[in-house]
Amino acid sequence: MPSFKPPVLGDPLPGAHFSQEAIRLMRLRRSAPADTLGEPGPDADSLCVILEIAARVPDHRRVTPFRFVVFEGDDRVKFGSVLAASFQANEPDAGDDRVNYERSRFERAPVVVAVISVVDPDHRTPQWEQVLTAGAVCQNMLIAASAHGFAAQWITEWYAYDEAVCARLGLGANERIAGFIYIGTAKEDPKERARPRLDRLISKPFQQ
Ligand SMILES: Cc1cc2nc3c(=O)[nH]c(=O)nc-3n(C[C@H](O)[C@H](O)[C@H](O)COP(=O)(O)O)c2cc1C
Repeated sequence: MPSFKPPVLGDPLPGAHFSQEAIRLMRLRRSAPADTLGEPGPDADSLCVILEIAARVPDHRRVTPFRFVVFEGDDRVKFGSVLAASFQANEPDAGDDRVNYERSRFERAPVVVAVISVVDPDHRTPQWEQVLTAGAVCQNMLIAASAHGFAAQWITEWYAYDEAVCARLGLGANERIAGFIYIGTAKEDPKERARPRLDRLISKPFQQ
């Protein structure tokens, strides 16, 4: 990859960057189910750029209403005990196979990034807008992963909403999980899924 120097504060930037490749990437982007992901994942440098791009989102009044928790290597395995314990507490009758599946959720991909939405309730920027920014972070991360040649999926599953899991991740009262972004290499290529019809989504303000 040619060397790239990220811009610093005040650098002049072009307002647009025409890229046929980017158009193609966005038109073909698809999630790959976490179950189909495997090695390799992004190396440290690539992951750093993926997170840099993810964080480069519109953000009304620069609140930075998000943060990341990165799971890699053994941390994915270690966190499995948190998932298993919480799952068992919720589903005491679950069999070992199911509990072990829950334990290994983060092991499905080489890298899992928890995107935490951090809302400042006292800020002038409406909370809704702060939450939207965290969503944009997740989508940017999917696109950045794809541009690096990695497949990814934005997932919440049950553990994004589980109190014990959120507590173990250190989430404060103003924090929620926007998503877990699983990043790796797809063992099988996904197929196109049904897409909404654009003509049913678009209206004009003065049409009958
Ligand atoms: C906030 C959010 C949470 C999601 N959670 C899950 C999930 O828990 N499990 C799942 O299979 N897909 C989940 N998805 C859907 C996938 O990320 C993905 O959008 C879907 O597989 C469609 O694929 P596509 O991105 O190629 O359109 C979620 C999407 C969003 C936006």
